[in-house]
Amino acid sequence: MTQDELKALVGRAAIEYVPAGTVVGVGTGSTVNHFIDALAAMPVPVAGAVSSSRASSERLAARGIRVLEAGEVERLPVYIDGADEIDERGFMIKGGGAALTREKIVADLAERFVCIADASKRVPVLGRYPLPVEVIAMALPQVARRFAALGGVATQRAGVVTDNGHPILDVRGLAIADPPAMEAEINQWPGVVTVGIFARHRAQVCLLGTEAGVQTLRY
Ligand code: A5P
Repeated sequence: MTQDELKALVGRAAIEYVPAGTVVGVGTGSTVNHFIDALAAMPVPVAGAVSSSRASSERLAARGIRVLEAGEVERLPVYIDGADEIDERGFMIKGGGAALTREKIVADLAERFVCIADASKRVPVLGRYPLPVEVIAMALPQVARRFAALGGVATQRAGVVTDNGHPILDVRGLAIADPPAMEAEINQWPGVVTVGIFARHRAQVCLLGTEAGVQTLRY
């Protein structure tokens, strides 16, 4: 199977985690795009979706799914999203699609985070994938220097501004042995909007697309 076929497999499998008639949290990315297509084909439609990006909102609306603002709901039964890396404890790196801040906001509303990913995303230790960090523009140099002090090399993502109007730093060379501690530390740095470590908002379930089918991992 191609990587896209594996993404489609888990995108369809995630439907099982969506209670019929509820409002669901929807992430961003090529795997989630398959999930949105499957969501639109549910026999009992969902009541709506809270989305983590303009791109996902547009795709949802184009398929006839009502899009609600985060502020219109208090809780969501489930948030379904992809990841750039996921480790053995359900900790993730996210933000390859630059939607990390809204992803964390919507994940925070959800009872449960179900990660959908092809098998290449599973890693023993986070950090091979460059860590995305959304930053207030005026703080870019000083945030980059803080990463250098940790042994990382931070580069501004060219031509990218988030849905919130901020640039992204991609940080290479970090071995993220303690994701909760590193997330908490980086969150304290002035100018950091969101770091793409999802430890506090880790996955409770991962549907992993493999050649043998969907593997369900619980954390
Ligand atoms: C979006 O900002 C990311 O967090 C995505 O969830 C992540 O990059 C996974 O994307 P794909 O599903 O396209 O691999």
